Amino acid sequence: MKLNILVTAGDGIGPEVTNEAVSVLKEIAALGGHDFAFMEKRIGGVAIVQDGTPLPDGTLDAALASDAVLLGAVGGNEFNSLPPSKRPEAGLLRIRAELGGFANLRPAFAFKELAINSPLRAEIIDGADILFVRELLGGLYFGQPRAWDRESGESWNTMRYTRSEVARVARIAFQLAQKRRRKLTSVDKANVLEVSQLWRATVNEVAAEFPDVTVEHQYVDAMAMHLMNRPRDFDVVVTENLFGDILSDESGVITGSLGMLPSATIGGKVNLFEPVHGSAPDIAGKGLANPLGAILTGALILRHSGGLETEAAAIESAVRKVLKQGFRTPDLVRGQTEGITALSTKEMGAKVRETVKEQLSAVGS
Ligand code: NAD
Ligand code: IPM
Ligand code: MN
Repeated sequence: MKLNILVTAGDGIGPEVTNEAVSVLKEIAALGGHDFAFMEKRIGGVAIVQDGTPLPDGTLDAALASDAVLLGAVGGNEFNSLPPSKRPEAGLLRIRAELGGFANLRPAFAFKELAINSPLRAEIIDGADILFVRELLGGLYFGQPRAWDRESGESWNTMRYTRSEVARVARIAFQLAQKRRRKLTSVDKANVLEVSQLWRATVNEVAAEFPDVTVEHQYVDAMAMHLMNRPRDFDVVVTENLFGDILSDESGVITGSLGMLPSATIGGKVNLFEPVHGSAPDIAGKGLANPLGAILTGALILRHSGGLETEAAAIESAVRKVLKQGFRTPDLVRGQTEGITALSTKEMGAKVRETVKEQLSAVGS
């Protein structure tokens, strides 16, 4: 299998975690005789500093010419006073729009080994396995008009969706639900917002094509609570851009850490893969970042852009095994010491690599 992967590591912990994800993918390529080529390009704050723009043309061209893009994270405190259009985050939003993927899959899987790391009781999260499908190209992030009029002291953003934008992401969510536990929860604010009323009506229309999937609707405020109270009740959760952003970070409480969450964006010209977390300026450059979200994102590249299901599953089971053996980055430790070995970002990457190698060699022999 040949895959050209563009790596845009970005800022803060982005380079630290993507390095480990790439090293695991290289191990997979070596073991299976696959030809994975990696090219690196700048995005975000590092590109603002070196190229004067958060998304240089060379990065976008390389992304459009690749089979998959692996993005670390963008953003840094030094850019916080810039307007949205000039910030590192603008580079991320633009590459998302240009690549065209509208369905951002954010799986939140509660590894049993990390139950103790969640503030929720083990019996609440045991077995939780949710797939968020976040609409990624619409809503408040892209709606026009938007502005901050400093003279009048007024500012506005626009939450806007078309029926077809909702239908296409809903259809993907239903298809994914069919391959899972056949339950779809659509999250909106239809008690207040017209946009959400269109959202709900459209999800109901699309539901007619999928009679084998059970559909329920939840308001986003109640959903934020249900997720903490009864996360096991949810299978696929589809929602608009900002609600999905917020609920997916919240699901980091179920998995034990935000650093465990991967994502894959599909449906466009080139698939885009990013861990859910940001550039974490508070821990950047210290070897403290958890690379497992990025490594699990690597597994999603193999699944969604490479069709390499066995290899994707091998990464996921290697992560589980490493956790089972007690290896932890600092974010995965909550007071417990017994049976725990603290690892740096690089050491965690090396452990997963070693374990993937053992597993795939055992399968091959
Ligand atoms: P963040 O996700 O960077 O960090 C939130 C908290 O989680 C921090 O305490 C951080 O240390 C911790 N954390 C995050 N990832 C971790 C990991 N892998 N291992 C261990 N701990 C981890 O969110 P923030 O602090 O609100 O934002 C920081 C910057 O990142 C901002 O500029 C924001 O816009 C940007 N951001 C970028 C992306 C992206 O590029 N995809 C996503 C989210 C936030
Ligand atoms: C994410 C991030 C981004 C988003 C920001 C950095 C633009 O929070 O990927 O979740 O809001 O989509
Ligand atoms: Mn986010």
